[in-house]
Amino acid sequence: MSFGATRPLARAFAPRVGRLPALSRPLCRNITTTPPAPINPSSAAHDGGNVEAPHNGINVDTPVRMDTAPTPAPGDDFPIVMVGAGNIMFGSQAGPWNHSFRIEHKLGPRLKVKALIDPDAARARGVLAKKCASFVETAYKDTQVYPNIGEYAKALATSGESGPRAIIVGTPPAFRGGVAEGRHLELDLIKYFPTVGYFIEKPVSTAPIDEVKQVAAELVKNKNVVSVGYMLRYLRCVQKMKQIIHDNNLTVMATNARYSAAYQSIDKPAWWDKSKDMGPVIEQGTHFCDLSRYFGGDVDISSVVAHSVEYDEAPGKLSAIPINESEIPEDQRIPRITAAVWKYANGAVGSFTHTVALQGTLYDCELEVWADGYHMRLIDPYNAPQLLVRRPGDDHNERHQFTDDDPFFSEMSAFIDSVEGKPDSHILSSFEDATKTYELTWAIRLASEKSAAARRATSKS
Ligand SMILES: NC(=O)c1ccc[n+]([C@@H]2O[C@H](COP(=O)([O-])OP(=O)(O)OC[C@H]3O[C@@H](n4cnc5c(N)ncnc54)[C@H](O)[C@@H]3O)[C@@H](O)[C@H]2O)c1
Repeated sequence: MSFGATRPLARAFAPRVGRLPALSRPLCRNITTTPPAPINPSSAAHDGGNVEAPHNGINVDTPVRMDTAPTPAPGDDFPIVMVGAGNIMFGSQAGPWNHSFRIEHKLGPRLKVKALIDPDAARARGVLAKKCASFVETAYKDTQVYPNIGEYAKALATSGESGPRAIIVGTPPAFRGGVAEGRHLELDLIKYFPTVGYFIEKPVSTAPIDEVKQVAAELVKNKNVVSVGYMLRYLRCVQKMKQIIHDNNLTVMATNARYSAAYQSIDKPAWWDKSKDMGPVIEQGTHFCDLSRYFGGDVDISSVVAHSVEYDEAPGKLSAIPINESEIPEDQRIPRITAAVWKYANGAVGSFTHTVALQGTLYDCELEVWADGYHMRLIDPYNAPQLLVRRPGDDHNERHQFTDDDPFFSEMSAFIDSVEGKPDSHILSSFEDATKTYELTWAIRLASEKSAAARRATSKS
């Protein structure tokens, strides 16, 4: 543990409190703190959803950082197939994501990327050329480009070569997670590579929820290792919250999530068009709906209510939209504010506000969790994560900060360890669980559209 990283402020105050004169004593709080208990080691689990004991997380006191991770040990080749040659896989200016970079650091010279699947062959060849011009050339020098997984499976069958041990999927969600033509990628993967581990990006799909549930059921039946890219679950601050809940046997009473996007920097027209990316709650707010569920558990979907500020309402006028919104049909333009409330299955209450209001580039996001005597605030998990905790017996907050945390590396490291069958490896987001997050985000969108339609109908009459 890095010194001071998790030292609660209350403990730093304790010696001074002890020296205060007797007169002041009634003013002093009776501060009792206990040292953070370590997370118990547990057996490898392929599903970190809500059914698992919360201590089945990553150990917050053992950082999983690239710069402190052990040098990849020499060993047998670890063949991988990558599906999608875009930003999530190979990085961009837009954010810290870049799966190939983390996988290279996890596996070192063992990494052999057998195939890169992308219908945009020029893009795929472009990223491969860059890799081959660098020190990771040995991982990519024999990588073949295919337009779809079926073509790769056919070529593999005739070549007699051995197949991949893991498949990393980073395609847009419209091309996966369903059963209809053009989006049944996972069913193809089960057909061609049933025993291989799959890492699949969020959201799990854009298909109707019933289709996605069918896919989830097939994956559960198939029993291979599957991880979904809700990387915020792997943040050490988030695992610290899980640890506090577990060690103090808390029952979560409420969650409140706020996700403020910096809309001025979002210049993808599809993001502004509900018919393409399905709207900002499903596309990006999903991370915070997922975190809410990670703490609150299953949601009573029928309880979800929501309101929105739409583009044509007075508070919905924005001055710095970086695309030409007039080209998007009016009924497909995204809401500026979405505010939702729901009940969890255990009776707790969840709330979520997504805003398209900030300019500049930095997002502002926060998650609060309440339990009897406890208030935990996860602040700025994307940029500089910190956790404030108020406990019983103290009106002050203790602060936890874990510098240089890299949840993208932790999630990839955990996935590869699980594929290798290593002990104490934990996948914290399964496809089945991520499907429940997808269902919640759709329920929020539909509830806000319903209330917006009712408002419009009333104002017309
Ligand atoms: N976890 C995170 O923080 C995070 C960050 C960025 C993106 N993502 C997710 O990653 C996914 C991809 O996003 P991106 O920004 O990399 O998109 P992108 O547009 O940069 O790249 C997607 C690539 O997939 C290719 N593609 C399209 N259809 C395909 C198909 N059927 N088979 C194979 N390849 C296909 C495209 O040609 C493109 O090269 C999305 O689901 C997104 O939400 C997650």
